[in-house]
Amino acid sequence: MAYFTTTNKNPIKFLHFLTIFSLLSPFSLSSPSSPPPSIHDLLVSRGLPKGLLPEEVKSYTLSDNGTLEVFLDEPCLTKYENRVFFDSVVRANLSYGSLIGVVGLSQEELFLWLPVKDIIVNDPKSGLILFDIGVAYKQLSLSLFEEPPHCKPQGILNNQVRKQKGFEAMR
Ligand SMILES: *[C@@H]1O[C@H](CO)[C@@H](O)[C@H](O)[C@H]1NC(C)=O
Ligand SMILES: *[C@@H]1O[C@H](CO)[C@@H](O)[C@H](O)[C@H]1NC(C)=O
Repeated sequence: MAYFTTTNKNPIKFLHFLTIFSLLSPFSLSSPSSPPPSIHDLLVSRGLPKGLLPEEVKSYTLSDNGTLEVFLDEPCLTKYENRVFFDSVVRANLSYGSLIGVVGLSQEELFLWLPVKDIIVNDPKSGLILFDIGVAYKQLSLSLFEEPPHCKPQGILNNQVRKQKGFEAMR
């Protein structure tokens, strides 16, 4: 578990700094030509941890109605507490602190793959994130989601097994 202190971070001062900076600067921070935020910055701006989606996200779209679509090159596996499977397209309704009606994300629970339905951060200070996996709610520590994990295509498991056999054959 990770605990954060606020002693060396002052968000209010930082915001003031940004405001003054954007007033003085000829370049507006919200200039229309600035590139869209990365998916991980987007998550953070919506009160969600950036590690919720893997490093390998290729692109995303966010519609006016809140529908977020995230695109990966191929389905892949990663691990937080348990193993988690991302489909090549993950879809959900993004609003502040939640992803509702998630499609394309499953997590392993006692050898069963259960689709994740909702992901909710009610209170960041609690240090907890809530996963609705249909049969139950799971509370996990937010600290598991601090950094975007690497997500491995499923085929890589087979390749590793094959490689090991190859080494054994050479001995
Ligand atoms: C939200 O907008 C997207 C793109 O405009 C559309 O494809 C989708 O059907 C809409 N979803 C709902 C529930 O209205
Ligand atoms: C997403 O959630 C927002 C807020 O709850 C709601 O207003 C909106 O209609 C939802 N969009 C979709 C596509 O379900």
